[in-house]
Amino acid sequence: MKRIQTAAVCGLGTMGHGIAQTFAAAGISVRCYDAAPAARVSLHERIAKNLADFAAAGLVKKKDIPAILKRITVFDNEADAVRGASFVTECVAEDLGVKQEWFARIEALVPESTILASNSSTYPISMSGTTLRHPERAIVTHWFNPPHIVPVVEVVPGPRTSEAVTRTAMALMKRIGKKPVRINMELPGFLVNRIQVAVMREVWDLVDRGVASHEDIDEAVRGTMGFRLAAIGPLEVHDFGGLDIQAKVFQNLAPEIRSSTELPRTIQQLVEAGHFGAKTGKGFHSYTKKKLAEKLTRRDQAFLALLKLLHSPQLK
Ligand SMILES: NC(=O)c1ccc[n+]([C@@H]2O[C@H](COP(=O)([O-])OP(=O)(O)OC[C@H]3O[C@@H](n4cnc5c(N)ncnc54)[C@H](O)[C@@H]3O)[C@@H](O)[C@H]2O)c1
Repeated sequence: MKRIQTAAVCGLGTMGHGIAQTFAAAGISVRCYDAAPAARVSLHERIAKNLADFAAAGLVKKKDIPAILKRITVFDNEADAVRGASFVTECVAEDLGVKQEWFARIEALVPESTILASNSSTYPISMSGTTLRHPERAIVTHWFNPPHIVPVVEVVPGPRTSEAVTRTAMALMKRIGKKPVRINMELPGFLVNRIQVAVMREVWDLVDRGVASHEDIDEAVRGTMGFRLAAIGPLEVHDFGGLDIQAKVFQNLAPEIRSSTELPRTIQQLVEAGHFGAKTGKGFHSYTKKKLAEKLTRRDQAFLALLKLLHSPQLK
């Protein structure tokens, strides 16, 4: 198994910037590229802000921040960015054509030994990497937002990914402080997003029916399922609750909950109206610029406190 010293990240948006930060914080040099100049120019500033939050939470030493930032280099062309990297991750748009073109382009720029990873939320590597001449070097490493904080990364080899590449990706994720979960078979959406979509279908249906206010739905899920699931897994929750009871609950409720594959009405209307959530100032809730900044700070402080409490390798 080879030890990765230099990584590259292509696409520096919501996910890419946090992934670059995580590599750099673990001592790995990161070469970065984004097609949009604004994403390239703002990269160090965005990561510096994240690192200041980490320092405030005691997860990074303030004195180490300049060295972490120095390990991150931004290039204004893709070929320079991927040169010399032995692990290249794409975090570009969730568009199959864009991903397929990315794999074809990057394969022509790097040696055969370079591992190519996709952060796609839904496309298995056998779909995004169809054009690869060496598919054994390609894999999905699926991070969760915010990637510099959320501990788990799903590692999803395709049928043609080599075992050595899968092991290297698992070892790399562990080395940078993540909790890799190996997925045994390729399924669209892998594992977690399938569960999330199943849950969200019911949440959105309950919104459509006006069962409770948006605020109360958030509060109810957060203060029950969310509270428990931050500490133990869903199968453990059920073991503790009693499988006899849970089996009965399933049988009574499964016929009652939504099973349609049509997008529920409220979310459909919001998206059609251009209300995409925080990024447009309105989704299920509304956000002024000031309120959004406060909410994001509060969210990250809460996530970092949870990380320290439950998942920090130092505290295990
Ligand atoms: N946002 C999430 O919660 C989340 C979670 C897990 C996985 N993902 C996946 O990560 C990937 C990126 O998502 P995001 O939320 O960071 O998107 P984003 O829109 O925030 O960032 C994408 C970035 O990629 C750049 N880009 C687009 N095409 C490019 C190309 N061909 N070459 C170089 N740069 C390019 C864009 O300029 C942009 O800065 C997607 O595949 C998405 O499904 C997203």
